Parts: sequence; structure tokens; C-alpha cells
Amino acid sequence: GSLQMYVDALPQMPKINGYRIHHGKAVPVHLTIGMFQKNWRFHRDLPPTPVFVFGQSPDSATFPGPTIVARHGVPLVVTWENHLPAAHILPWDPTVHTAIPKKGGVPTVVHLHGSAHPPESDGNPFAWFTAGFRERGPVWRHTAYRYPNVQPSGNFWYHDHAAGLTRANLLAGLLGAYVIEKPEVDTPMDLPYDDDDLHLIIADRSFNVDGSLYMNSTGVAPDVHPQWQPEYFGEAITVNGKAWPFLTVHRRRYRLRILNASNARYFNISLSNGLPLYVVGSDTSYLSAPVAVSSLLISPAEIFDVVIDFSQSPTTDVEMLNSAPYPFPTGTSPVGHLNGMVMKFVVTPNGPLDPPDNSTVPDHEVPYASVTAVPPTTKTRHIVMYEYRTPSGQSTHLYINGMRLEDPVTETPRSGTTELWHVINLTRDNHPLHIHLAMLQAVKVQQLIDLQTFTDCMTMNNDAVKCNVDQHAVGPVVPVPDHEKTWKNVMKVPPGFVTSVVVAFKLVDTNQTYPFDTSADPGYVYHCHILDHEDNSMMRPLRLLP
Ligand code: C2O
Ligand code: CU
Repeated sequence: GSLQMYVDALPQMPKINGYRIHHGKAVPVHLTIGMFQKNWRFHRDLPPTPVFVFGQSPDSATFPGPTIVARHGVPLVVTWENHLPAAHILPWDPTVHTAIPKKGGVPTVVHLHGSAHPPESDGNPFAWFTAGFRERGPVWRHTAYRYPNVQPSGNFWYHDHAAGLTRANLLAGLLGAYVIEKPEVDTPMDLPYDDDDLHLIIADRSFNVDGSLYMNSTGVAPDVHPQWQPEYFGEAITVNGKAWPFLTVHRRRYRLRILNASNARYFNISLSNGLPLYVVGSDTSYLSAPVAVSSLLISPAEIFDVVIDFSQSPTTDVEMLNSAPYPFPTGTSPVGHLNGMVMKFVVTPNGPLDPPDNSTVPDHEVPYASVTAVPPTTKTRHIVMYEYRTPSGQSTHLYINGMRLEDPVTETPRSGTTELWHVINLTRDNHPLHIHLAMLQAVKVQQLIDLQTFTDCMTMNNDAVKCNVDQHAVGPVVPVPDHEKTWKNVMKVPPGFVTSVVVAFKLVDTNQTYPFDTSADPGYVYHCHILDHEDNSMMRPLRLLP
């Protein structure tokens, strides 16, 4: 049977400050955050679900984890502790390149997504550790992770990144939101704040009748990978750990920081009564000016910072709907299905004691946000996405430039420089490209013509120049949407196109290089953020040269 929608109230996750106020000044703190197994209620009528979640204690741990609020320029140290049991709650597949501890336990490692920090605090897939740091991966370095918080203010998230297990560890719940605030920049914008500033962390999940998380335990190509599937799609849409929740709102503006934390599902969200979404930021930075949209396409790991003005709502019930096919863009349409609905807002009159809404949809200029011309770049690269199939057409693995994570590094940019990456997608799916440390912005999205000839040549030679990429990249140009014209860390890469991306390996607001050594071991990675793809093995090492 299916669950009744809109019966559980949308929670907000507990907040943890990543700084302390001492004599009126924000000063650093050292946090300890654990990973625990516990039971979580995703729905009024669903039995408790065993999950793996973050928290400062087992009791306070939540799905998703607590929201960490850091202060710009105030470094934060976090010791991430693994308190997980000997066995995983979800199936995993040793035929993909996976962290396998000899003494049992669940390997985990934490990546602060979107943040600029030293490599030894990056959460390298091979820096995993088990409970009590009993066993550690080959590039494990420290228990304490250092986050300098030197970037512009914006929205980040933290999540597991263990080799070959990321899709299972996130599905189990190892994820949470992280914010860098910068009052000098944020406060003058007069965005909705406090109770009107909310996080929506969207994730699709399927459940067994006993409440446990369902993950297919038979691979799509079981003779190759007995468990691995090319994409996980859940039937139920959860927001902040509740299936199809509702939120009571007043007739005022709300700021919603929307993160798609799904393994593979894209969301194309809209509001049922046509209210516009004012996009004010994406990923870790603000737009140069807000953009009103009627629908918003959000890939896995992408974040949009949005204002909705419920004082303009013509109805009391406002559903958030999803129309993105799965897999995106050529799969099944969710319209009319369970996963075509996300949540509901119930608009109530403002009470007599409610403070007036003095917030705005700000029209401040954020000067560093948008790239209007390709800046001088020091290096051009071709990054090619491939999918491999069995003779009968079943997906077996996905690579970048024909290589895996464990193959030798080929991307070695210099710290402080800007590069131009031509990302060529030869698969059928859209892939969300995520580059650790860097900030990115698409400048041109152009269709490839004569795709089959080009693909055949690339499959043989794996060399875009030799295969005359410039003669194929002459199809129609698709404009970059205005609400994506800012420094992002996730880029949607459409199939059959070349997406040209400016990749900045520096701090984009100050144009400064990083105040830490980016060249140290074990380096960084870049990858597709469809978790089933990055686990097998759409991920490559990234080494910064000093
Ligand atoms: Cu959100 Cu490499 O990760
Ligand atoms: Cu992918």
C-alpha cells in the first residue's frame, strides 16, 4: 500500500554553531560529531526505520544530520567519529572498487561538499575509517578535519565519501547541511531570517513494509556486479527525513535552502498554484541578482537558495510538485505518480502578534558572481564521460576519460589558476559534475553533431582532438539559465553536448589563492554526483600543483 501524503509536519534539523562568541567576537571551536545507527520515523504510518545518521549523541542524531552554521573566516575543526556497528544495514557490492575492512565494520569518511580546505581534510574515498578508527584506509591522515571557511557565504553540505560505499552510506542517512554565514554580506540583503529561513533536504527513498530502507540487492548485470545498479530511485519523496511532509506558513516571505540529496533522482520542482520561486543563490554563492522562475531543475547534490512570497498565494494549499523524468532526461515521467509530489505548504493568516515581514527579495549586486566573458585561463582540458554496457545493453560501469579513480592522475592544475574544461557527455544520462575545491561556471553548452561517428572514434581512441571534437561541437547552443550564472560546485552536463566550464582553483570573491597547502597528499577528486556512478567509477583524482 502507499502512504498518505502531507500528514507529518516538516521538521528543521537541530543547529550546531561552528564558532563561539567570546567578548563579542566569533572564535573557533572544535566539534565532535558522531555517526550512529538508530531508528528514524519517516512517516506516521511507517514502522521505525534503521538508519545511519550524524549527531552529537545517539539521541540527538537525525536524518538528515544537524545543520552546522559556520562563520566566514573563523576556522572550524571537526572530529568525525564512526560509532557504526559491524554490519551495514544495506547491501553492498565488493565487485566495485570498495573499501573493505578486514575486521568488519562500516567504512566511512566525511567530505564537506563545496568547501575549500586542505587535502588531508577533504574526505578522500581512501581515507575511510571504521568504528573507533580501528581500521583506516590507505590515505587516512588525521582524526581532526580543518575547515578554514574562507569562501563566500552560502550553502554547503557534508556527507560520507567512502570508496565504493558512498551510495549505500548516504542512502542510510549520512548527510547534513552546512552554512557559511558572513553577516557583512548577508545582513544587508534583508532576506527572510530566523523562523522564515528554512532548509529543505530532499531525498527519495523506498521502504519495505517493516519500515526498513529498500535497496535493490540484485545487480542490473548480476553476472558482472551482483548488487550494483546504475541508479537508485525511491518511490517516496522525503524532505528533512519525512515522507511528503507539510509545512504551515504565514502570509509572508520565506527563504528556502533546497538541497537535492538523492542518490540519482533529479527534481524539476514547481508550485501547484503557479507562485514564482525567486532564486537568490545556488550552491555556495549568491546570484548577482535574483531570478524569478516557475520551475527549477535540481540535480543530485545541487543547492538552490530560493525566496517564496506566500503573501501572494491565491490558494491556502500549495503543493511542491516534481516533473523530472528518471533517469534524467529520458526516463519515466513522474507526473501523476507518488514521486511527482514533494511536499505541501498550508498558508494560514498572519496572527495579530506576528512581526511584520520586513524581508525582501534583494536586488543587491554581488559583483564576483557571474562570469560575463571567459576569463584568461591557463589550461584547456577535455573531460569525457562514458558508460559501458554488456552486449545485451546492461550498464556495467561509467568512467571519465576512460579511466577510474585508482588510475594515475591526469588533472594537475596549479593552485590559484583558472582553467577551461570542455565536458563531453557520450552517455544517455545527464550527469552532475562536482569538482572538489574548485568553483565552476558554465559558459557554453553546445550540442555535438554526428554523435555516433564521434562516439565510435572516442571509444576506439579516447582522444577528443584526434576525433575532431571541434568539427562535431557545432550543433545548437543552449543558453545557460540565468539562475545558474554564479559560481557553482555542481554542473549539470547534458547528454550529447559539450559543456564548457570555467573552473577556478582560487577564491572567486577576493581573487586570492587559498591560504593553505593544496598540493599535499592525498590530493582531491572530481566526479559525477549520481552516487551509483561515482562508486563505479565515474570519479578521478585531482592533484593541485603549488
Ligand atoms: Cu558531494 Cu565528492 O562530493
Ligand atoms: Cu553520472
